Amino acid sequence: MTVFDDVVQHFYGAGKRHFFDPLYQQVNRQALAPFFQPWLRPKGRVLEAGSGSGHLAGELGLKNCCFLDLTWAQIKRFQDTGTPGFFIHGDLQQLPFEANTFEQVICSNVVHYTGLPGLAELLRVTEPGGQMLVAFLENSDFTRAAVRLAVACGLFPLLMRDARFIELADLAQLNVREEDSATVIFMPPLFRASRALPRQGLVAFVLRKEEVQIRLSTRKKVSIQ
Ligand SMILES: C[S@@+](CC[C@H](N)C(=O)[O-])C[C@H]1O[C@@H](n2cnc3c(N)ncnc32)[C@H](O)[C@@H]1O
Repeated sequence: MTVFDDVVQHFYGAGKRHFFDPLYQQVNRQALAPFFQPWLRPKGRVLEAGSGSGHLAGELGLKNCCFLDLTWAQIKRFQDTGTPGFFIHGDLQQLPFEANTFEQVICSNVVHYTGLPGLAELLRVTEPGGQMLVAFLENSDFTRAAVRLAVACGLFPLLMRDARFIELADLAQLNVREEDSATVIFMPPLFRASRALPRQGLVAFVLRKEEVQIRLSTRKKVSIQ
């Protein structure tokens, strides 16, 4: 755990976050849940990492999944909703599961707190052919400027200055194929997921973990004299 993880945990452990909570909940309801819904595998082994107090899970109707969060108070809030499931206090960067455990992993508005190692860990526990449904802030000038402005106006918490925005080019380092993606935009009065616009700001992806690929190496000929 880093100092930043402590700050994140402290922030989410405290009481209600006015503006910030209603904002991401509105985004969940209007844009992310409708985007992810058709991809859900409700009967599969599903992990929601960084499930928080269960807002997205509620919008998606997730039940009997593994729900994991770094912040104990968030897990408690989620449990208090009465949703059936397995609740785990843990860190997305060191998931307490064996490789290839889940058919589907859902992680929304979390990996910009961990950076690429969080995504790599999600991929490790996803089985080959399984999917990762993820949403995060990517690392463009546009996003960094928008977040700085939101922090300066007091709309976002100070910790967002140190967020580990995801470099989209880094997705190519992961053994995944993109099945769908969208950008969350605000079209007053609603947030929407747009497939047409460039992937800037808050972006959502459906990523399929590739089956293991065997690369045939060119054998060197050894001459025996
Ligand atoms: C903005 S909330 C999103 C909650 C939920 N995904 C949703 O959309 O309703 C972010 C959550 O991520 C959790 N989180 C942050 N860093 C984490 C980490 N390294 N491992 C697990 N959870 C983490 C926080 O505790 C918080 O509950």
